[in-house]
Amino acid sequence: MLAIADLTKSFVSPEGERVEIVNVPSFTLAAGEQAALRGESGSGKTTFLHLIAGILAADSGRVTIDGAEMTALGEAGRDRLRAEKLGYVFQTFNLLQGFTVLENVVLGMSFGPRGADRAHAKEVLERVGLGHRLDHFPRQLSTGQQQRVAVARALANRPKLVLADEPTGNLDRKHSRDALALIREVCRENGAALLLVSHDEEVLGQFEGHRDFSVINAALKEAGR
Ligand SMILES: Nc1ncnc2c1ncn2[C@@H]1O[C@H](COP(=O)(O)OP(=O)(O)OP(=O)(O)O)[C@@H](O)[C@H]1O
Ligand SMILES: [Mg+2]
Repeated sequence: MLAIADLTKSFVSPEGERVEIVNVPSFTLAAGEQAALRGESGSGKTTFLHLIAGILAADSGRVTIDGAEMTALGEAGRDRLRAEKLGYVFQTFNLLQGFTVLENVVLGMSFGPRGADRAHAKEVLERVGLGHRLDHFPRQLSTGQQQRVAVARALANRPKLVLADEPTGNLDRKHSRDALALIREVCRENGAALLLVSHDEEVLGQFEGHRDFSVINAALKEAGR
């Protein structure tokens, strides 16, 4: 479902120095596989997920999602592939502030293969416990509720690959458990692969054989970060 080869990305620091953040020689995820990566703050987890999703262009290397090479596509092609195959739970939610909870999920679906399906959007929002907040705007929600909207939006299209960036970072323990269980359950129902990154041991502990990002990301070893 996901294959990564020799993926690199560097940024130029404010001092003008080029710093390599991601250098992943090889990483794969099978269809339906659920994996979690542990990485400290600043270790490049979000950058790695942005590269996979084609939100950020890689310096070199390949990302292939369900047979389609993300890294070979232009911006429009990357947008299309993301809309067709990917669900992304952003660390910072990225909800559209001028739209209601329901509209945020429906709009997210409108670019995908299912099109805007309000009934399904409502159903998914009910599953994350927000059935009574459909007409609220993001700013009228608590941070944890906004995070659950972000989860609903990522899952509504029934994507083949779900990327989740600290998807429970703003939730209390109970909501964190519930949200994670829901993400995993929906992925299983849809036969979707899940790649989650986190530094929360409570979250990571729920994944058998979670892996250390520092083992996968050679940039960390070289920089001693
Ligand atoms: N656009 C950018 N320009 C310059 N440096 C960047 C840029 N984006 C990220 N970085 C640097 O890359 C490193 C990794 O950032 P990233 O956000 O991927 O870390 P992270 O593992 O997701 O951290 P956290 O757990 O705090 O979310 C940081 O040192 C950051 O300063
Ligand atoms: Mg991050």
